[in-house]
Amino acid sequence: MEKEHIERIEKIERLKRDKNAIILAHNYQRAEVQDIAEFVGDSLELARKAMDTASDVIIFCGVDFMAETAAILNPDKKVVIPDKGAICPMAQQLSAGDLLVAKRAHPDAEVVLYVNTLAECKALADCICTSANAQEIVKAMDASTILFGPDHNLAYYAQKATSKFIIPVPEYGLCPSHHQIVMEDLIKAKEAHPRAKIMVHPECIPEIQDSADYIASTSGMVKIGNEAEAGDEFLIGTEVGLLHRLEKEVPEKKFYPISTTAVCPQMKMHTLAKIETALELEKPEVVIKPEIMDKARRAIEKMLELSK
Ligand code: 13P
Ligand code: SF4
Repeated sequence: MEKEHIERIEKIERLKRDKNAIILAHNYQRAEVQDIAEFVGDSLELARKAMDTASDVIIFCGVDFMAETAAILNPDKKVVIPDKGAICPMAQQLSAGDLLVAKRAHPDAEVVLYVNTLAECKALADCICTSANAQEIVKAMDASTILFGPDHNLAYYAQKATSKFIIPVPEYGLCPSHHQIVMEDLIKAKEAHPRAKIMVHPECIPEIQDSADYIASTSGMVKIGNEAEAGDEFLIGTEVGLLHRLEKEVPEKKFYPISTTAVCPQMKMHTLAKIETALELEKPEVVIKPEIMDKARRAIEKMLELSK
């Protein structure tokens, strides 16, 4: 390892101790960011971890909606995102105005929003969900019609668990990175690794979901990998950053990406240099308008209550 890299890691560790700070990282973060974090996980685990920590400062290495969720759940802690440009394009696909229009058109429906949404949309929702609990949450809602956004692929996955009427808002919200994973890639990958089981994220298109042996959140895939037989092989249909965690934690099994172009550039914006600066300055801080904060927290807490 280069001298400069070692010195930077030492400085980050020192700053963490001095400031009583913790680094939380999503499963898609760069390998070196995952390796320096106290905790690496999926959206649901990160929200829970942010609530459990006794640290005063949370350096959140993920995209905007994840850091905002941590800030909403922890009004007394400082949540810092190393690069403010880490904005999830899917969350941008649903505006509060469009959600209000859909709510007016379906006054009896309840609103379940994927955590990948703007905070002002969360404030208008009845409940939030993540990829780990989307099916559980839609089943637990009271209404027979659910407005569900912004990912129409996750809506397709949620619909499989219930006879309720799920209306996607917007009609075709999607993740640009998971849309890189197409049937042609899957067929080629299966030819190259015929013994491998197929494990995909519910943000993948329906054809990919329907071809899979397992559909799970990012950490759900790590769990399935851990529980599999030694020597098992898997084709992985999600953002390629998860491969680092799978290879590190489950070394006795083989994991192959279905598509190597399924990269989320926003997730890769946080670097060790930016983490060092964020720790030093305790900036940029994630700040949510107080009028949005309380309403959004209600919808997130409802998810935490319903999802055990
Ligand atoms: P997970 O909650 O499964 O980690 O998914 C987050 C995400 O943004 C996937 O694109
Ligand atoms: Fe958003 Fe897709 Fe990136 Fe996840 S992978 S943060 S949904 S753009």
